[in-house]
Amino acid sequence: TGLFTHDPAFTATSSCESKITFIDGNEGQLLYRGYPIEQLAEKSNFLDVAYLLLFGETPSASERETYRQEIEDYSLINESLKTFFEGFHYDAHPMAMLMGVVGSLSAFYPDALNIRDADTRRKTALRLVAKMPVISAAIYKHSIGEPFVYPNPKLGYTENFLNMMFSRPNQDYEIDPLAARALDVLFILHADHEQNASTSTVRLAGSTGTNPYAAIAAGIASLWGPAHGGANEAVLKMLDDIGDISQVDKYIAKAKDKNDPFRLMGFGHRVYRNFDPRATIIRKLCHEVLAKYGSDPRLDLAIKLEEIALKDDYFIERKLYPNVDFYSGIIYSALNIPVNMFTVMFAIARTAGWVAHWNELVTTDHKIGRPRQLYTGLTQRNFK
Ligand code: CMC
Repeated sequence: TGLFTHDPAFTATSSCESKITFIDGNEGQLLYRGYPIEQLAEKSNFLDVAYLLLFGETPSASERETYRQEIEDYSLINESLKTFFEGFHYDAHPMAMLMGVVGSLSAFYPDALNIRDADTRRKTALRLVAKMPVISAAIYKHSIGEPFVYPNPKLGYTENFLNMMFSRPNQDYEIDPLAARALDVLFILHADHEQNASTSTVRLAGSTGTNPYAAIAAGIASLWGPAHGGANEAVLKMLDDIGDISQVDKYIAKAKDKNDPFRLMGFGHRVYRNFDPRATIIRKLCHEVLAKYGSDPRLDLAIKLEEIALKDDYFIERKLYPNVDFYSGIIYSALNIPVNMFTVMFAIARTAGWVAHWNELVTTDHKIGRPRQLYTGLTQRNFK
């Protein structure tokens, strides 16, 4: 190609320098700001991890107090957003609503364009982290025709989300600590993953100097597809389609058949060529959650699929392993989160990574992202 490298799908292109997340795909290693994901999942919590991604260190006790207060203050959404929700039919896909509502925040916060100002950037980042669960729960309530539940300042981040999703007027709702912890761990595991498609989308949009809420809405759009964040929804649909252990072999054969577009959803990863450390943590968590909430035949199906695939030459040769999305949906289901909300759950968590990358981009020397192409069309001809 002469002047530039042709690398469609960016399989061998580094697009930026970053200090946020490190992945060693051969070793199955994932670090946020140097900390192994296993340690963060065991000992930290999502809000602290979001802070770590954004600012480089976990907060000190006094920083945590200020930060939690800011998250609480920013969690309220403008009342006029309610009319925006009402514009959507009840059965609109939650990701479609999320994209629209988050994009509309750029109209509420035009000052966010002042990206040179550190206070404004902090406000934007924390507003997004704070509002995502509130908007997401409101989307769910809209889809089932129930009134929105306001965030409760007495509750933690994940507890608040469960309360906004499942509490109803005049009915008691008790938050199960295991449900809250399981969800918090899932949020930690999904919080960042370096230059994946949606984060790269946020960076590319951000590189033009656009309103950051618009850049995050672009990230949500990119996350939605089944090859990326939409895979968790696709896995559960696949498990329901398979239906019974006796059908597993048939689906494995379909996944291997090059004339069949079917892929084993929740399997394979561009970077992990050994195992996905997040899948290992989630598989264990899945067993803990189901031990309390009752068994789900889909877990047995998933285990069987994994067992067969890991012994099959097709998957071995191509280094295909279960990824983060393979088991997460079974946990969401046990917690009563509907299948079409699964990718929204991913988006709530990934917002921490998106804002950290956007902040890193705009605070370092950067140019507009502008790939080139290999033109394969007609050469010049005359128009008559
Ligand atoms: N089932 C069957 N075959 C597969 C699968 C699969 N899930 N994944 C990859 N392959 C095959 C693929 O057909 C190709 O075979 P061949 O070399 O014979 O043509 C080979 O493995 C390499 O695949 P690729 O599509 O070139 O790999 P990629 O790095 O471009 O794609 C992927 C990665 C994750 C999009 C892909 O593995 C996939 O579609 N997986 C299913 C969807 C999924 O679970 N996505 C979630 C990813 S993790 C969370 C996230 O990023 O959001």
